[in-house]
Amino acid sequence: MNPIPYGKQFISEDDLKAVAETLQSDFLTQGPKIAEFEKAFAQYIGSKYAVAVSNGTAALHLCTMALEVNEGTNVITSPITFAASANCVRYCGGNVYFADIDPQTYTLDIAKVEALIASKPAGFFSGIIPVDFAGFGVDLEAFRTLAKKHKLWIIEDACHAPGGYFIDSNQTKQLCGNGNFADMAIFSFHPVKHIACGEGGMITTKDEQLYKKLLLLRTHGITKDASLMHENHGGWYYEMQELGYNYRLTDFQAALGTSQLKRANDGLTRRREIAATNFEAFKSKSYILGQSGVVDGHAYHLYIIQVEKRKELYDYLRSKNIFCQVHYIPVHTFPYYQSLGHKKGDLPVAENYYEHCLSLPMYPTLTNEEQQYVINCIDEFYHN
Ligand SMILES: Cc1ncc(COP(=O)(O)O)c(C=O)c1O
Repeated sequence: MNPIPYGKQFISEDDLKAVAETLQSDFLTQGPKIAEFEKAFAQYIGSKYAVAVSNGTAALHLCTMALEVNEGTNVITSPITFAASANCVRYCGGNVYFADIDPQTYTLDIAKVEALIASKPAGFFSGIIPVDFAGFGVDLEAFRTLAKKHKLWIIEDACHAPGGYFIDSNQTKQLCGNGNFADMAIFSFHPVKHIACGEGGMITTKDEQLYKKLLLLRTHGITKDASLMHENHGGWYYEMQELGYNYRLTDFQAALGTSQLKRANDGLTRRREIAATNFEAFKSKSYILGQSGVVDGHAYHLYIIQVEKRKELYDYLRSKNIFCQVHYIPVHTFPYYQSLGHKKGDLPVAENYYEHCLSLPMYPTLTNEEQQYVINCIDEFYHN
């Protein structure tokens, strides 16, 4: 069997054509492909505005900058995420607080968030960064209710969930990142994600003020809009009005993203099929302590099983050419966060989850044969 990774991009002939055409055009960067990608993505997600950036981490950083996070700003996020969801607060000098996860959904437990807020004086926290971990759409309606009560902003980390949704109290599908409940949402286009740009990211929002600020911060805080400038020396003139960065995406990455986006729904359908097959295969196995399962609206960036002897299984599967991954090492246990006062034992549900979790291969081009081989190897491991 050829090596089977846990995630993999799918580049089609159309993708190659789109990138080649852009490489032969007048604009490698700052050209028309950016706005095209932003428009198509906003439409797909159901958001009003979208801002393309160089990667998901840059997207998070611009969000915390736009919300004026600084020293003394306290923000809550999940420990079961990629470090960037927390790091973006630190980039601006803010303090990260982690609340424990729900053992069923592996996402922020809102009751734990509420308890954490209640443990501090009123006004202590400024915001929450919920993560649609693995592709599970967090109930942002509930988080918005909580946020309103405590005057908090919400940045939704939707890197794992383009096309995912949760069902709100009116039985309406709310697409992850649509901006109906969060102030801003962010996405990543790293190759293992649903849409691959190589590197790439997007911020979505319905807030016009935030949108304008994000545009400015993406390019050094520079504007060329004459109506916003303090002075105007001529056609060449631009003004740097804030301290921003170069977090731009290139046009050929955007062309790839737009082309990939056209197939995003096919990819989602296939991911959901793979998830359903996994669920059926594992649902009655005694060695399974938990699994992602079949969940309406799940976007299945990852399919997770929880097992005993996880390390031994991981090593066994590697010997069989199956390269699973572990998502994630709880962020609060990293030496950097321990140096800030966080410690092992703080978040028992997340830490217990980490001891047992394994992400199985999940990508649209995974074949039925490959998936069956993975399932058989896991079964073999526990029955030998
Ligand atoms: C949940 C989450 N947040 C943020 C990021 C950061 O995205 P990027 O790798 O594009 O910087 C990732 C991607 O690895 C992620 O999985």
